[in-house]
Amino acid sequence: MLKVESLTKKYRNVVAVDDISFSLNQGDIVGLLGPNGAGKSTTIKTIVGLLRKNAGSITIGSYPSTSQEAKKKFTYVPETPELYDMLTVWEHLQFIAYAYDVANFAEKAERLIERYDLWDKKDKLAKELSKGMKQKVSICCGLLPEPDLYLFDEPMIGLDPKSIRETKLIFKELSEQQKTVLVSTHLLDSIENLCDRVLVMKQGRIIVDMTMEEMKRKLGNSGSVSLEDLFLEVTKDE
Ligand SMILES: Nc1ncnc2c1ncn2[C@@H]1O[C@H](COP(=O)(O)OP(=O)(O)OP(=O)(O)O)[C@@H](O)[C@H]1O
Ligand SMILES: [Mg+2]
Repeated sequence: MLKVESLTKKYRNVVAVDDISFSLNQGDIVGLLGPNGAGKSTTIKTIVGLLRKNAGSITIGSYPSTSQEAKKKFTYVPETPELYDMLTVWEHLQFIAYAYDVANFAEKAERLIERYDLWDKKDKLAKELSKGMKQKVSICCGLLPEPDLYLFDEPMIGLDPKSIRETKLIFKELSEQQKTVLVSTHLLDSIENLCDRVLVMKQGRIIVDMTMEEMKRKLGNSGSVSLEDLFLEVTKDE
């Protein structure tokens, strides 16, 4: 579903993503982990085409990531919500539905804003929303088109506990529907029972690419107790 090969992205002379390769098969729910500045957001932004890569190739489905065909296959939820100040919550969903040609839009949009407790905010302008509410609208916009591939950059930051639970439930549903998800996060316990696989980045490189099964086996053997222990161990500075 997603294939990243020898991807490098530099900001002037800073190498933010350094020759990484990985692929996601249909139905994979993969956690993208790594300390601040590891290159997670840069990787995701390069995949979705917001940043231009310096080297490497990215294919989505079997199409180059920059093609129109590829763009219809995924949605992206950015680290910080990017909403239109002067559009209401409902108008955002309407706009996305129009852009992605969503069938039965109203029904799907109503269900989503109910799940995220946004019903009474439906006609509020984005600029009048709280930080968490903006994040929830951004997630709803990412979910509405029901694409094959979802790229979420720290979707749970700023959400209240109920919305975090709802988001986890939605991930489970996506997994059951054989959708493909790449989700960057610092909330390790939130993904422990959610992801099939984890990628850990450090200084622009992928230092761990392991299934949850392998991870659990490793945790068992090393005597560590959690994903957090393993994460701190692999990412610590020598
Ligand atoms: N617009 C930019 N201009 C220059 N350097 C940047 C820019 N954005 C990110 N970087 C640098 O690229 C590297 C990777 O940053 P990135 O935002 O991808 O990290 P991240 O893993 O998403 O971190 P976080 O967990 O804090 O979100 C860092 O060294 C950062 O300073
Ligand atoms: Mg980031």
